[in-house]
Amino acid sequence: MIKITVENRNGEIAALEIPCNLNLSLMEVLKAADYDILATCGGIALCATCHVKVLKGAETLTPAGDQELDMLEMLPDAGPLSRLSCQLRINEEMDGMVFRIANQD
Ligand code: FES
Repeated sequence: MIKITVENRNGEIAALEIPCNLNLSLMEVLKAADYDILATCGGIALCATCHVKVLKGAETLTPAGDQELDMLEMLPDAGPLSRLSCQLRINEEMDGMVFRIANQD
């Protein structure tokens, strides 16, 4: 189990405990926890509706791939903290990380 902190679009902050052994993406975890994420592409880095900002721990993540970077470039509010949560696999190194659900444009 790891614990992460998530800030929703209203600025409300909550902790989530997540098992590491289910090979879940962060997007799947956020949707299961009823965060307002559409994920219309189903997690293949094509819709960018799962955009999150990594507020703490970004250095532990594997770098974004070309497809993820291409999608992020198309988002007006994307920045250096931006990731697509469907491209982030939950693992033990993510313990303690802090994410913010990005605004929808
Ligand atoms: S779910 Fe579509 S890009 Fe992440």
